[in-house]
Amino acid sequence: MTVGALFDEAAGGYDEARRRLVPGLDELYAALLEGLPFKKEEPIKVLDLGAGTGLLSAEISGRFPRARVTLVDLSVEMLRVARRRFAREPHRFEFRVMDFARKDLPAGYDLVASALSIHHLTDGDKRETFEKVHGALVPGGLFVNLDQVLGASPEEEAGYEEWWLRRVREAGASEEELAGAFRRMRADRNATLADQLRWLEEAGFEGVGCARGDHRFAVYGGRKGIASSYNGKERHG
Ligand SMILES: C[S@@+](CC[C@H](N)C(=O)[O-])C[C@H]1O[C@@H](n2cnc3c(N)ncnc32)[C@H](O)[C@@H]1O
Repeated sequence: MTVGALFDEAAGGYDEARRRLVPGLDELYAALLEGLPFKKEEPIKVLDLGAGTGLLSAEISGRFPRARVTLVDLSVEMLRVARRRFAREPHRFEFRVMDFARKDLPAGYDLVASALSIHHLTDGDKRETFEKVHGALVPGGLFVNLDQVLGASPEEEAGYEEWWLRRVREAGASEEELAGAFRRMRADRNATLADQLRWLEEAGFEGVGCARGDHRFAVYGGRKGIASSYNGKERHG
């Protein structure tokens, strides 16, 4: 099954299950938002890669009320939910059904953000995507990715697996939700945080860093053309 088909199938119950399936999601979103250097009233242009039902776009557009957001996803059904979410403000949101690993990205963005999507790409496609994201940003623009990472050793990876399963069961995920998550996880292509930070630097990003790491999940990114650290150094697990 393709990634698009997997998420077409998941779109209906996606928002409802999200918090149960991503332990610490609120803290991860908070770390991402806190690292954004824009003033509240700035009319920033934002590109959300793998935007799905629009959860991350909602957080960003809520924090920056004049932001205009382009939501990109290859799942028609996930974007259908996103269109409904933002239907009251059509002038602020644009939707594009496309595979961001295969197509050129639109350009001129102050912020390219992504959540839980890039880990579906092969390592080669991740590296190419980082280069394309660099090209899509204006000078001084920021890229931030909230995503899954691979453990740096088999032991660390096994620890991430054990931690995730324990936390999602504690959160009350149903057997059906877990079965759906396991089906989607077969399409995961996680890479280590260290590799991805290096690929960002190789793609030309500056101030590359990780704002928050919590076992399987991390918030990391870099800036185009400004030599300052992306964010703090918080890391758990
Ligand atoms: C786990 S969902 C995350 C959605 C949203 N960003 C969030 O945080 O809730 C991953 C999304 O990435 C999309 N996706 C994965 N690979 C993609 C690609 N190459 N191009 C476009 N969308 C992609 C999937 O269709 C899915 O909607």
